[in-house]
Amino acid sequence: MSCRIPTRSSSTAGQKWWKSIVYTYYEWCRVAPTATTFYRVPNRHFAVQATSTGSSSDSSNSERISLVIQVPNTPGSLTQPLAVLGKHKVNLSRIESRPTTQVKQPDAAYDIFVNVSDDTTSCVVNDNNLVNRIKNAVEELTSQGIKVTVLGEGLDSSSMATTSGESSTLSGIPWFPRKMRDLDAFASRTLEYGAELDADHPGFHDKAYRERRQSITENAKKYRYGQPLPRVDYTEQELKTWNTVYTELTKLYPTHACKQYRYIFPLLEKNCGYSPHQIPQLEDVSEFLRECTGFRLRPVMGLLSPRDFLNGLAFRVFHSTQYIRHHSKPLYTPEPDVCHELLGHAPMLADPDFAEFSHQIGLASLGASDEDIDRLARCYWFSVEFGLVKEGEQVKAYGAGLLSSFGELQYALSKEPQLLPWDPFVASKQPYPITQYQPVYFVADSFSSATDKFLKFAETIARPFSVWYNPYCQTIEIIDSLEKIMKIAGHTKQSCSLVTEALRRLDGK
Ligand SMILES: [Fe+2]
Repeated sequence: MSCRIPTRSSSTAGQKWWKSIVYTYYEWCRVAPTATTFYRVPNRHFAVQATSTGSSSDSSNSERISLVIQVPNTPGSLTQPLAVLGKHKVNLSRIESRPTTQVKQPDAAYDIFVNVSDDTTSCVVNDNNLVNRIKNAVEELTSQGIKVTVLGEGLDSSSMATTSGESSTLSGIPWFPRKMRDLDAFASRTLEYGAELDADHPGFHDKAYRERRQSITENAKKYRYGQPLPRVDYTEQELKTWNTVYTELTKLYPTHACKQYRYIFPLLEKNCGYSPHQIPQLEDVSEFLRECTGFRLRPVMGLLSPRDFLNGLAFRVFHSTQYIRHHSKPLYTPEPDVCHELLGHAPMLADPDFAEFSHQIGLASLGASDEDIDRLARCYWFSVEFGLVKEGEQVKAYGAGLLSSFGELQYALSKEPQLLPWDPFVASKQPYPITQYQPVYFVADSFSSATDKFLKFAETIARPFSVWYNPYCQTIEIIDSLEKIMKIAGHTKQSCSLVTEALRRLDGK
């Protein structure tokens, strides 16, 4: 599934395949290190969105629809589902099995994960015939009491409708996850890095390093919702790399990081094992974030597509790598690694206002067109990755790409770059260079005002419905009818009653 990302210069008019290069391709600064070291750390979490025009021969397109079939651990239990799929001429390109993650299921039950392909076409998305065959197969399996979950962006969204009327609303809308478990579909859909490295990666020629990454990314690939996050027993060499990064960056935080970061970081040291001598475990950090804002971390093999990565934010899920950069260049890496995730992103996700801002970007991405995903990814880039925020008369950093980069953190707060007020309408169209530090950064007044501005921008996302995240069920609800609007109004009414009661009690003191 790994895709090579073309540089701008290699993108020609004839290569419509790559529609998101400008904002998703990020090449690390290769300014020759001189007296001043221009090392940069990674600040993207998604790779180029491979948007097929139907003319590509990339076989990865044939794996966009997947099924998860639950079967008991009895001899021949897979025979029946396979027979039904065969009957409906649904070809399979890959089959995996693993113990089911559903707590209420007996231990003997298994999830059979299958990728659907069609050898008659390279583009599943446009093959309505295949979609209909899958639908028919799923219906027959369901009628036989076999539980099937459909995953994948190629399937017409009408097939994932869960309530009456949603079918017509979602017709033609790109697939998006509706429940937390749907994020399992992203586990093996990374587009870049993971276990595979570019030739210019510092660890490319290091066999031991590659094997180490392979073992860590395998854990991420196998991870499924509901399981404890895999723990990594980091080596002395990895700890030494972490120590260098940690020691250098923490020198800058008191003067360069925003107040929210400065407040949270000591809490992470106290509660999650943050220290120069220890790499925190994702599980511990994730639990801390859940208690603070409901955000959680989820291991990922490498770079996701912009759509998948942003969709995860809608569930307050942040996809996080677990491997560390190569020890030969501790202050340089061409990709997100555990230093970038835990030092750049995790602290800010514990702030309620920042968490809400990130969540809203995620919600806006659900079912958005490719063009709108482009715009949202740029907003994400110039805020969550490279954002600055006012602090009195000063400007501080909150973007993870800055907070995990010793060089760019200082550069961004120097007099050199241009600073613009945070405006998502501008940021969504802002180009950026790929071989040097950003010439432009956006400065928010506060996270709550940044969210207000973003919500106005999100109204311009072209889709025929609104979405609401139900935190109790951890599901996305489609708001496309008066009945559903009334349901939301009921929640709002209850919140208003709570506020009124609280004010009355406060007034009575
Ligand atoms: Fe990042």
